[in-house]
Amino acid sequence: MDGLYGDLVMDHYRNPRNRSPISDADIEAEEFNPFCGDRATLQLKLDGRGNICGVSAQAEGCSIIQAATSMLCDQLQGKSLDEVAEIGERYRLALRNGAEGESELGDLRALQVVRQYPVRIKCALLPLTALEEGIKAYREKTG
Ligand code: FES
Repeated sequence: MDGLYGDLVMDHYRNPRNRSPISDADIEAEEFNPFCGDRATLQLKLDGRGNICGVSAQAEGCSIIQAATSMLCDQLQGKSLDEVAEIGERYRLALRNGAEGESELGDLRALQVVRQYPVRIKCALLPLTALEEGIKAYREKTG
């Protein structure tokens, strides 16, 4: 994986952001890839208005899942859950069609390089799946 985007992926892989666990998280989710055993675990803390005020992200496994987990969680601070859903949709589209002009995706744009390796798209989507499942469970719990 070469170039600026490849460098960004390796930077998040080697120096993942937001690793510290949250002891009183409102949203917790884990997603597991049964084919390789890799997993992404996310925790979110919400403030009184329902915006994200704390993020924790842990991933075990390949460089792509680790970088994707770090990059995704980097985009969540201060966002509402509806804004998170929009980021998720844009990210999914970027993995399919490319991310030109998607500045609000931040470093996540770099993962469009995974389009060259279609079998790795699942690695890049695993943290998003965890996030979506966690938000769904939270909404069901809190109504
Ligand atoms: Fe397992 Fe990438 S090879 S998530």
